[in-house]
Amino acid sequence: MAREPRRILVADDDPTIRTLLQDFLEGEGYEVSVALDGEQVLSEARDTKPDLILMDVRMPKLDGIAVLERMKSEGLSSPVIVMTAFGGSTLAIKAIQLGAYDYVTKPFDLDEISEAIERFFERQQLSGELRHVRGRADAFNPNDKIIGNSPAMQSVYKTIGKVAASGATVLISGETGTGKELVAQTIHTNSMFSQGPLVKVNCAALPETLLESELFGHEKGAFTGAVNQRKGRFELAHKGTIFLDEVGDMSLGTQKKLLRVLQEHEFERVGGISTIKVDTRVIAATNKKLEEEVAAGNFREDLYYRLGVIHIHLPPLRERKEDIPDLVDYFLQKHRPHPDAAPLDISQEAVNLLMEHDWPGNVRELENTIERAIILSQGGVITTHHLVFNLIRPGRTLDLRDALQRTGSLRAAMEEVEARLIFEALSQANGDQQQAAESLGIPVEELRRKLSLAESTKEAVGAGQS
Ligand SMILES: Nc1ncnc2c1ncn2[C@@H]1O[C@H](COP(=O)(O)OP(=O)(O)OP(=O)(O)O)[C@@H](O)[C@H]1O
Ligand SMILES: [Mg+2]
Repeated sequence: MAREPRRILVADDDPTIRTLLQDFLEGEGYEVSVALDGEQVLSEARDTKPDLILMDVRMPKLDGIAVLERMKSEGLSSPVIVMTAFGGSTLAIKAIQLGAYDYVTKPFDLDEISEAIERFFERQQLSGELRHVRGRADAFNPNDKIIGNSPAMQSVYKTIGKVAASGATVLISGETGTGKELVAQTIHTNSMFSQGPLVKVNCAALPETLLESELFGHEKGAFTGAVNQRKGRFELAHKGTIFLDEVGDMSLGTQKKLLRVLQEHEFERVGGISTIKVDTRVIAATNKKLEEEVAAGNFREDLYYRLGVIHIHLPPLRERKEDIPDLVDYFLQKHRPHPDAAPLDISQEAVNLLMEHDWPGNVRELENTIERAIILSQGGVITTHHLVFNLIRPGRTLDLRDALQRTGSLRAAMEEVEARLIFEALSQANGDQQQAAESLGIPVEELRRKLSLAESTKEAVGAGQS
C-alpha cells in the first residue's frame, strides 16, 4: 500500500519564497499548504497537525520564536524546521532550545532545504523502528543482577549455583570490567553467609604493611601511627564473606599470611600474639593471569591452588557479543534519569555499532557508553551519534589522516574529528554544554551550533574505531 504523502506547512510572509518552496516541495512529492503569519501557523498546528512545519522566523503578528513558545506551552507537537537569515545567530539557537528540530539559513539553496527535510523524515522513521526496552520497570532490581545468556555465562551461573552454598573458596578471574565483583556479590547473596557481612578489600590499593594491618588488624603501638588497637577485615567478615579484590597484586609476604588463614582459619593481629579464629568465606578476584604470575615467581603456587579450589573465569565481552543487546536493554533501564521516566530507546543501527566494537573495558565500558549516550541524547532516541567509545587509549587517537582516508574529503574528515572532540568534551562534562565549551575554548553558542550540525552528519561518531 502506498504511503499517504507527507504534509508540510510552509510559513513565510514573503510570497516569492512561499511559492518557490511550495512548487519545489510538491515536485518532491510532498503535500504542501501555506501560512502567511504566525497566527496561521498556530491554528494549522492545532487543527491539521502537519507532519512538518517549515517556518521563517521573521513573520508578522507572531514571530517564529513566539510561535514555538506557544506551541510548547500548548503541547502542540508538530515538528518545525526554522528558516533564518544568516547563521550562528542567537535566534537560531533560541529556536532549537524551544524545540525546533533543525534550522536552515537564508539565503538557502533548495538542495539544503530538501536535505534537511529528508534528514528529518529519515530520523522519524528510524525512531518508528525502535527496539523497545523489554521487561517491566517495577520488576527491576538494579543490584546484583547478572545479565547475559551466552553459553559462557550460563556455565558461570551453574558454577555459582553449585558453589554458593558450599562455603568453598572461590577465585574469579577475568579482564577488567567483566563483572568479577558482581559475581562475588551474587555468590555471597546466595550463600549461607548471606546474613553476615560482605567485606571488600582492594589488595592493589595499599602498600604491604598497611594492607596487612587492614586485613588482620593491629595492636596498639604495633607501628608508628598505630595509636589504638584495630580489628582487621578478616575479623569484621566473621560469619560473612571477605572479597579480596586484585589478589594478584599482593606481595609475597602478605600472600604467606593469607595462605595460613586459608589453611588454619586463624591469624594474629599485626604486633599481636594472641591467635584469632574466624569463620569467613573467601572470594578472591584478579584481572591478572595468575598461572603466568606463578610461573614468573610473583605468586605463590600453593596459594594459587588454595584460592582456586573453585575457579570462575569471566570471558571478555568480545567473546560473548550475543550478550550485548540484553546488557544494553538492562543498562538503559538501570540508568534512566528517574524511575518514572519513559523507557529509553536506541536505534537498531546503534545496537549494530555496539556489536561491532571490541570492548577492551568490557561490560563496564559498555555501561559507561550507554550512560553517556543517555546524557547526550537528552531523552531522545539514542543513535550512533551518541555513542562515544573510549576514544583515548593507546593507538586510538583522533587521527585526521585516518578520517581523511575513510571519508575521502578533508572537510568531512575535519567535521568528523571535530564532532568527536565535541561529544567527548560533552561527555567529560556530563552533558554540561557551558563546561564543555570552556574546555574546548569556544563560546557556548558556537558549541550549540556545531552540536546541531554534528547531530545531522550521517557519519556515525565513533564509527570506524574498532
Ligand atoms: N553480566 C553483567 N550484567 C550486568 N551488569 C554487569 C555485568 N557484568 C558487569 N556488570 C556491571 O559492570 C560494571 C563493572 O563490573 P565489575 O565491577 O563487577 O567488574 P570487575 O570485573 O570487578 O572489574 P575490575 O577488574 O575493573 O575491578 C558494574 O557496574 C557491574 O554491575
Ligand atoms: Mg572489580
